[in-house]
Amino acid sequence: MRAVILVGGFGTRLRPLTFTTPKPLLPVANVALLEHVIAGLSVVGVTEVVLALGFKPEPFMSAFPDGVCAGVALRYAVEPEPMDTAGAIGFAARFAQINETFIVVNGDILTDLDISTLIAFHRNHGAIATLHLTPVEDPSQYGVVETNNDGVVQRFVEKPQAHETTSRAVNAGTYIFEPSVLDYVVPNKPLSAERVVFPALAAKGVLYAMSTNDYWIDTGRPETYLAANLDLIDGTRSQILASIAAQAHIAGTAVITHSVVGDGCRIGAGAIVANSVLLPGAVVQDGARVEASIVMGHIGAYANVTDCVVGAEGRIDGHTTLVAKKIPDPATL
Ligand code: GDD
Ligand code: MG
Repeated sequence: MRAVILVGGFGTRLRPLTFTTPKPLLPVANVALLEHVIAGLSVVGVTEVVLALGFKPEPFMSAFPDGVCAGVALRYAVEPEPMDTAGAIGFAARFAQINETFIVVNGDILTDLDISTLIAFHRNHGAIATLHLTPVEDPSQYGVVETNNDGVVQRFVEKPQAHETTSRAVNAGTYIFEPSVLDYVVPNKPLSAERVVFPALAAKGVLYAMSTNDYWIDTGRPETYLAANLDLIDGTRSQILASIAAQAHIAGTAVITHSVVGDGCRIGAGAIVANSVLLPGAVVQDGARVEASIVMGHIGAYANVTDCVVGAEGRIDGHTTLVAKKIPDPATL
């Protein structure tokens, strides 16, 4: 089976990190997010992945120079302009001449869903499209879905207002599609799956959905990106990955707790790093304290940084205290 992965978004909510690295290439517990996603697809027998690319395609090509990721062959469908989600799926599927049942995934989702159960549900119901759903407390950041007892989608509302629905089941970003879904996608025009195609399929009664309670997270915001990293090192998930890369340089008196430290990071004497992610190359100088933060850049000696996102160009002066800041601030760039 083949899969299309949507990886062409701007990663706006993860700025300043995504100024230098597209969201799917950011590491989660020291493995690229995209590699986690593709590893999950290879388990169910996906042999070829079509990357639906737009914004910044070059870093993807250089990240996987032999055109293979997690043992799966890659193809690159590069949109001439952002096509939005359905436009991008249509563009990629036509580019790869997909003419059989296929999988589509949002490139920023980490989940323990066994996709073969979603495929079986799709086949058993004779659906033309089947969505994976997950329960959340607040659906306002997601596509909320109302289904009947047979799993037929009655309504799909993207980013609902509080009064719009009582459902707490949201689109979890993994889909099984028949090629006939492409009949709903006019070629080469921007089109939203969530705002146009899913409501249209729901109106015809041919859209199905299956909810599971598997581990699920959309890594697209700083707090969820941080959580996705820590969930992979602390036993929250079935898989446990090493938290500190072999190529990090850590002073003997530094204290690191519940954190991920990437290749080439430097952590000075007496520094404290807790509940944080240090991306490859980050520097934390002597005596600095980093708590609940994501760091690509440079933290000066004895600085105190809490709840911050520091991009590659970010430099925090020594002896300063910063709380809940993005450096450099995407709003001013
Ligand atoms: N190729 C391409 N072109 N990809 C795109 C484009 C585009 O124009 N726009 C967005 N994408 C990709 C993003 O890179 C991401 O992998 C995926 O589409 C979803 O976009 P997000 O920007 O992450 O959307 P979201 O998180 O606000 O909402 C989506 O995911 C939720 C679950 O996490 C929607 O599908 C919601 O319905 C869903 O609940
Ligand atoms: Mg997302």
